[in-house]
Amino acid sequence: MIDMTLGEVADVVGGRLSGADPRLRVDAPVEFDSRKARPGGLFLAFPGEHVDGHSYVGDALAAGAVAAIVTRPVDGPSILVSDGHAALAALAAHVIRRLPDVFVVGVTGSSGKTSTKDLLAQLLERLGPTVAPPESFNNELGHPYTVLLSTVDTKYLVLETSARGTGHIRYLTEIAPPRIGVVLNVGSAHLGEFGSRAAIAQAKGELVEALPADGVAILNADDPLVATMASRTAARVVTFGAAGDVSASDVRLDELSRPRFTLRAGDASAQVAMRLSGEHQVANALAAAAAALECGLPLPEVADALSQAAPRSKWRMEITERPDGVVVINDAYNANPESMRAALDGLVRIGSDRRGNTWAVLGPMAELGDSSPAEHEALGRAVADSGIDRLVAVGDESRGIARGAAGQDGWAGEAEWVPDAEAAITLLRKEVQPGDVVLVKASRAVGLERVALELVR
Ligand SMILES: Nc1ncnc2c1ncn2[C@@H]1O[C@H](COP(=O)(O)OP(=O)(O)OP(=O)(O)O)[C@@H](O)[C@H]1O
Ligand SMILES: [Mg+2]
Repeated sequence: MIDMTLGEVADVVGGRLSGADPRLRVDAPVEFDSRKARPGGLFLAFPGEHVDGHSYVGDALAAGAVAAIVTRPVDGPSILVSDGHAALAALAAHVIRRLPDVFVVGVTGSSGKTSTKDLLAQLLERLGPTVAPPESFNNELGHPYTVLLSTVDTKYLVLETSARGTGHIRYLTEIAPPRIGVVLNVGSAHLGEFGSRAAIAQAKGELVEALPADGVAILNADDPLVATMASRTAARVVTFGAAGDVSASDVRLDELSRPRFTLRAGDASAQVAMRLSGEHQVANALAAAAAALECGLPLPEVADALSQAAPRSKWRMEITERPDGVVVINDAYNANPESMRAALDGLVRIGSDRRGNTWAVLGPMAELGDSSPAEHEALGRAVADSGIDRLVAVGDESRGIARGAAGQDGWAGEAEWVPDAEAAITLLRKEVQPGDVVLVKASRAVGLERVALELVR
């Protein structure tokens, strides 16, 4: 956060200040979780469906917050506004305009936004102070929240931008106009809300529509719905992927499915050996590399930083090898059809070097709309086609996965269905043997990470 007075904040958000001196200084971020409130910061109270942030204003003030931004009157120093989201957006838009030298890079796509922004942050940190979202902060709350983490020292601001509908990304780009926009892919995440992939592409493309003529659109050459976004931007276009300006050759996966490859840009090349697992990380790495090269990081440094980059966000292809040799892959952060396939590939790769069974412990994929039953059955068939040894489908909506696998001719593996995470834990505790590899994955709402965490305890 930049240094502002409480009076200025009230003006910017169009709110009414009460109970505090307008000359008080604000110099720490805006928090909407009272447990994170800090001296010098602000607390934003949301009405919330289950918990009302207004009940925590006292806690936040006790923790040192200068004032609370509220939508109904409270005791203590506060700024009363009519809409908390609008207040946050207005403040973020104001702050970023007061920091004209901050270079904003937006990242969007159906899968891999968080993975890519974590890589990109680790590249740009080599060039200067970089702010990037915590976890997967990417919506109308998390995006402006991240903007407000910027300070006068910030040089690069990496933003994850998500959309559940048309206009969502445009809204975010109006808060913080990007100079570089990265579009990773158009998949079927949130197909339920959008209705079609074309509609998803339309929404994701709003990121590159927002770029200025001296900006750069970084587009996936291997995804036709992304490549055609070149016609929707005033910015220069740089592509990544097999036929892209920034590409990877000689891609190999080591015994933990970590990619090694030759990174190419123009005539130059450099070797990369990633610490992250999964072949899909190659595309994410290329996208991050393209953005960092545009910011002026030399190719050898890009390759070195990609090789050093550590996982920053939890439960994404997080691999733990137990003392008894069981490998647990915790990819339970979230799931959609594309990321399920990517994770199954990782499981098969890691299993191929080991003597034990491969286990796919899979829960439902949310938000797929009408295509949901067909997608779950297709996933089951993919499990069987991959030659995975044991499938454990968890939860009611996952019955289709088990059905799809069991119905696949010629599969030598075994499909089981269990009602919940606890039943999965019981089954796995009993049957997983040294040398086995276990993948755990489902949509976020299912909380299947419990299974993975239990297995590595
Ligand atoms: N380029 C990619 N293609 C396919 N799957 C990917 C790709 N990158 C990451 N994944 C997989 O997708 C899942 C989500 O990854 P990540 O959190 O990076 O995506 P996201 O776009 O930020 O998702 P969300 O919409 O939940 O914020 C992980 O399980 C990961 O293994
Ligand atoms: Mg994310």
